[in-house]
Amino acid sequence: MKLIVAVDNNWAIGSGNDLLFNIPEDMKRFKAFTTGNIVVMGYNTLLSFPGSRPLPNRKNIVLCDDPSVNVEGAVMCGSLDALLEELKNYDSDKVFVIGGAMVYKLLLDYCSEAYITKIQSAGENPDKFFPDLDESQDWEIFETSEIREHNGIKFCYVTYTKK
Ligand SMILES: NC(=O)c1ccc[n+]([C@@H]2O[C@H](COP(=O)([O-])OP(=O)(O)OC[C@H]3O[C@@H](n4cnc5c(N)ncnc54)[C@H](OP(=O)(O)O)[C@@H]3O)[C@@H](O)[C@H]2O)c1
Repeated sequence: MKLIVAVDNNWAIGSGNDLLFNIPEDMKRFKAFTTGNIVVMGYNTLLSFPGSRPLPNRKNIVLCDDPSVNVEGAVMCGSLDALLEELKNYDSDKVFVIGGAMVYKLLLDYCSEAYITKIQSAGENPDKFFPDLDESQDWEIFETSEIREHNGIKFCYVTYTKK
């Protein structure tokens, strides 16, 4: 299983149940990585999507504590155990954890690769964070892209692998 996330220069990932930055090139990359594959997310992240609808052309798996919540086009899992059972049905190379903060933390130990868009600015009023992988003994950088820029915001793509 892999994860994909965009972090700012403090490893912040969200504010007010929304993203901190809108970088179209990064969105395209996210789409290219995940289309045709399986995406795993928390309920808050689903609610942050347009119309609170699952992402098209992907198998959407949503963690949610409330068994009465049903979302058309998504598989709902009420616990980590239920999720791990569901994931047995898929090739783990095709499974991407896509957020948010709670679910990244929950599943980080189950991931072998992390595709991190590192934005070299601070987002406004961040309230959700991703663990700092540069401080972790468990992860190392496999490759780093050249620096890119959108509207004056510099960013790069860093792939981390589990040691
Ligand atoms: N920068 C990025 O790349 C990126 C990517 C994705 C999201 N985000 C941001 O992250 C923020 C959302 O993160 P978040 O931490 O608030 O929410 P989240 O991780 O998306 O979802 C949390 C919810 O998932 C459910 N859940 C989590 N663990 C569970 C478990 N073990 N069993 C059953 N259900 C479980 C619970 O839903 P219920 O309590 O409702 O049942 C929980 O409230 C937003 O700001 C979003 O924009 C950023």
